Amino acid sequence: MRHIHVLAIGGTIASRAADPVICTTYAPLLSAADLVESLPPMRDTVAHVTSEDFLKIDSASLTGEHWLAMARRINELLSGDVDGVVVTHGTDTMEETAYFLNLTVKSFKPVILTGAMRPASSMSADGPLNLYQAIQAAASDAVRGAGTMIFMNGTLLAAREACKIQPVRPDAFTAREMGAVGCVADGKVEMFYHSTKEHTLSTPFEAETLTSLPKVDILYAYAGAEPEMLDDCVKRGAKGIAIACVGNGNLRPVWRDRIRELAREGITVVRCSRANGFVNRNGAQDDDALGTVSGGNLSAQKARILLMLALTFTSDPAEIQEMFDRF
Ligand code: SIN
Repeated sequence: MRHIHVLAIGGTIASRAADPVICTTYAPLLSAADLVESLPPMRDTVAHVTSEDFLKIDSASLTGEHWLAMARRINELLSGDVDGVVVTHGTDTMEETAYFLNLTVKSFKPVILTGAMRPASSMSADGPLNLYQAIQAAASDAVRGAGTMIFMNGTLLAAREACKIQPVRPDAFTAREMGAVGCVADGKVEMFYHSTKEHTLSTPFEAETLTSLPKVDILYAYAGAEPEMLDDCVKRGAKGIAIACVGNGNLRPVWRDRIRELAREGITVVRCSRANGFVNRNGAQDDDALGTVSGGNLSAQKARILLMLALTFTSDPAEIQEMFDRF
């Protein structure tokens, strides 16, 4: 029998509203044990389910210190007799926590994040089935070695690509142009493919040895955006900046000039796109000349996480580029 541990962080899945038709105003009231006890007995899955309240927090309030503590706890659980961890989590930043764990959990055992778009009191709450099926997925052989995933609305999404694109509906998550890596239906867990990117045991990142993460900011580019925003980030202590650039990681000439200077001062800038797709190195911009890193198909919020971890090792843009290409 598989031992699946539910680690509760908070979010809508643990919340109740005053009325069954209210779906966006609610309060976090449920414990991890409440969530597990609300489920029907596991069908088609032989799993012993335990649970733990780790945090009760709106996911917008999570910090790097919370992520490090989560990774440490999950590593501790998976180094023992726990066969898989399901993290119940707010959906707003679930994709960020998932990618952080994908890079820092040191186990081939599954870690699956799930949540809900509707509170538990809703007349068609999505949380219970999401949790039930996430547990079925975590107990399945099919997902072992696949890295951290998000399970929402019947689909398994790789942490690296998962993205919340809709603020209220149960179909809020997508993996952008990569698509779902798997699904769960009536107890059957199906994996379609594994990501080609390395994760978990293949990364050098160790949550155990870190007490904090370097400050990395995100800037969002737009027509006429002023380059002083870059200086504001650095003045407030940023060691790196992930930019959601226009187009294929494109930069205004005035941004380019300032970024080249910042690179010489040791500040790492990653070019991502505010669109959905791959930003190629030395494509729309000359990364070699600018001292920048291409974010590939990572969103700026994911690039920020990898850059924070990369900066704990090096500020050399060539070495950081190698990490972006691998992870
Ligand atoms: C949160 O992210 O904590 C609130 C929203 C949600 O769980 O859907």
